Amino acid sequence: MTSETLQKARDFESQYGPHIPDSERPVFHATPTIGWMNDPNGFSFYKGECHLFYQYHPYSNEWGPMHWGHLKTRDFLHWERLPAALAPDQDYDSAGCFSGGAVELPDGRQLLMYTGVQRGHNADGFIQDIQTQCVAIGDGVNYEKWGGNPVLDGKDLPDGGSTIDFRDPKIWQDKDGAFYAVIGNRTADGSGAILLYRGVENCKWEFVRTLDACHNQYGKMWECPDFFFLDGKQILITSPQDMGPVGLEFHAGNGTLCLIGAYSPAKGFTRQAAQAIDYGLDFYAPQTLETPDGRRIMIAWMQNWDTVNSKPCNCRWFGQMALPRELSLKNGRLIQNPVRELESCRGARVVHQNIPVCGEINLPGIQGRILDMTVTIRPTGPEQYRWFRIRVAKDGEHETIIRYRPDQGTLKLDRIRSGLPRDIVHTRSFLVRYQEGAIKLRIILDRYSLEVFVNDGEQAASAVIYTRQEADAITFEAGGSALMDVEKYDLTLDGQEV
Ligand code: FRU
Repeated sequence: MTSETLQKARDFESQYGPHIPDSERPVFHATPTIGWMNDPNGFSFYKGECHLFYQYHPYSNEWGPMHWGHLKTRDFLHWERLPAALAPDQDYDSAGCFSGGAVELPDGRQLLMYTGVQRGHNADGFIQDIQTQCVAIGDGVNYEKWGGNPVLDGKDLPDGGSTIDFRDPKIWQDKDGAFYAVIGNRTADGSGAILLYRGVENCKWEFVRTLDACHNQYGKMWECPDFFFLDGKQILITSPQDMGPVGLEFHAGNGTLCLIGAYSPAKGFTRQAAQAIDYGLDFYAPQTLETPDGRRIMIAWMQNWDTVNSKPCNCRWFGQMALPRELSLKNGRLIQNPVRELESCRGARVVHQNIPVCGEINLPGIQGRILDMTVTIRPTGPEQYRWFRIRVAKDGEHETIIRYRPDQGTLKLDRIRSGLPRDIVHTRSFLVRYQEGAIKLRIILDRYSLEVFVNDGEQAASAVIYTRQEADAITFEAGGSALMDVEKYDLTLDGQEV
């Protein structure tokens, strides 16, 4: 049965969603039907198609009582809109249906597990939330919340666990058929932990163990965990709140953390390495799935909580997902590359090879705002160039800059002149591997974003931009002299002019 609250959201999105023309959206990045989007939820395969739910407030371009919006896709690029899947319509989720996961059940139904938020008051009368885990079961469009919800609450927490911060279940079915979920929690020292639960029968779940805890090292609360096996290692990812900066690896605020290690049922998770996931300005709450052909794909919210108040006024949608990435491991580090399906969107190709660059140049056929461009830069001889700048989304007033400094080994994203009208953080630098001044940058533009993949996925950096679409020039500039190859494809969906 569809509740009144859910029906209202469905009516609203079907009435007003079509008011937003496709030309006001990115071409192949997922956006909300209308209003606000944050975290990806329930990113998973169901009956052969990939479903993506998302944190959703259809009624404004701001965060509000959380619903689950719903999209599905066959290629991670075309997103079909489905009616909102969940609304905050029960006592236990009256303050919101927060993030969670989805899985196909053996009987062919789809199970959603999400965090139900109920608002109460603490001893001082201040507003205080209680978070529990709840389930809903459905057919890929309509979902019924389970009568016995919540399935996990304060009684299921280990000692010292917080009922205020207990959220974001990511659920999967193991090869042995058992269901597992990882859930973020805050421990007695105020910092984060990731808890592992196992499904027993009949919507019952039991606590297995704490997989890892932060002990105030990487931020505070650990949100939106995921736990999966990749190229011989066990990976635990999470999105920490309130991080302190660590060199150029982790920035202050909400960040992303990838812990690489080993897991055994006897010993639990052993952490061997820690790194950031995205080194740009906008990337949070990543979630992964395994495709039927065995690839591990990650999607994330291409936004940053600290900058969400900087948006074009009166925009009818806000928040978009990053381009899904294929994950692998190399030399103990996470490698991320755009899903290979993107290659089927490549249209007109322009290539320039061995182009000497000193001073600022542009090249015939190299411009645009919806494109896939690989730039390879190297020194002209033993003398090293000092810096190299690629400017995109450029006109007389605007530009978004990618700058490489071989002497420092840093890459910097700079979107100071990218149409954002607020004095927020607009630049971010990170370390890249030194290879005698050579670097390869794959740059994906899709109207309102820039995603850079460094040296075949050794690093990825994302940023949203709001520059007017007519600003589509691209230039290259070296301090000193460098040689460059450029290969650029326009991107189109279904071969259409966009
Ligand atoms: C992360 C997050 C989650 C929560 C959701 C609420 O961005 O804070 O922890 O479930 O957003 O919208």
